[in-house]
Amino acid sequence: MAFDARQAIVTGGATGIGKAVAKQLVDSGATVFIGDIDTAKAEETAAEIEPTGQRCRAYPLDLGDMDSIDAFITSLKPASEKVDILVNCAGIAAPEEFFELTPQQWDRIMDINLKGTFFLSQKISKGMSEAKYGRIVNLSSASAFTPSTRPMVSYDVSKAALVMLTKVMALKLAPYGVTVNSVAPGPVVTDLLRQFFDDPNTLEKGVEGIPIGRLAQPEDVVEAILFFCSERSGYITGTTLPVEGGNLLVKHIVYGVE
Ligand SMILES: NC(=O)c1ccc[n+]([C@@H]2O[C@H](COP(=O)([O-])OP(=O)(O)OC[C@H]3O[C@@H](n4cnc5c(N)ncnc54)[C@H](O)[C@@H]3O)[C@@H](O)[C@H]2O)c1
Repeated sequence: MAFDARQAIVTGGATGIGKAVAKQLVDSGATVFIGDIDTAKAEETAAEIEPTGQRCRAYPLDLGDMDSIDAFITSLKPASEKVDILVNCAGIAAPEEFFELTPQQWDRIMDINLKGTFFLSQKISKGMSEAKYGRIVNLSSASAFTPSTRPMVSYDVSKAALVMLTKVMALKLAPYGVTVNSVAPGPVVTDLLRQFFDDPNTLEKGVEGIPIGRLAQPEDVVEAILFFCSERSGYITGTTLPVEGGNLLVKHIVYGVE
């Protein structure tokens, strides 16, 4: 897929799936702006992907802070006036016991995974609408459809809400040539997943719930994301594509098998 002359924002691009997306977009000709709360890591990643800094740069972004979202957009100017692609990868997860979950923990997950994702998209899609072209991809999760084995109440709910947010945004933005789709991965081997597994043997045990017989690597998810980023997916909008090795065909999403 060619992305020559396209400009893309990848949130959460310092590590994991976002990093793999940023790399693939740059390798395919795009200029990528990484927005991440871990500024040092994001700068390291941008330099690793494209050492000249011409086509991959990192900017501070805390999706849980509305002022930070505005500052991020301002720091991108004038480039932020012509963003063709927005990949909303940034997200957090934490083990949460149903009876112990606090309102503060709930708000933190929702603020980053849902509220921040919406308000950044709202602001960026305005320019896309004026340009009559745009591609927005949200990172939901297979746990939007089936609760995780280890309780993650607010995470699962935030990811389910992203499925509906994708539809709402898609409907609003379709007349302007902007598509909005979502990818719903099962367990992907990144830092986000590792926190649920105490040792590599437990991680291996997670494979038992996946018909394809292995956990995903970030690159497995990137292919689906890049398709939705491409011009050729222009007649598809409002969808959520599971990328989970068949995990949804069986009973549980295998975060932290106990
Ligand atoms: N890894 C999985 O198993 C899995 C499964 C389903 C969905 N997902 C989703 O995919 C996305 C990427 O996850 P990943 O596995 O690559 O995780 P990751 O932890 O490797 O990467 C997440 C990135 O988001 C950044 N981030 C965290 N809080 C932020 C904030 N407030 N503002 C801006 N950036 C912030 C982190 O610094 C990090 O670079 C997330 O939305 C996650 O929920 C992951």
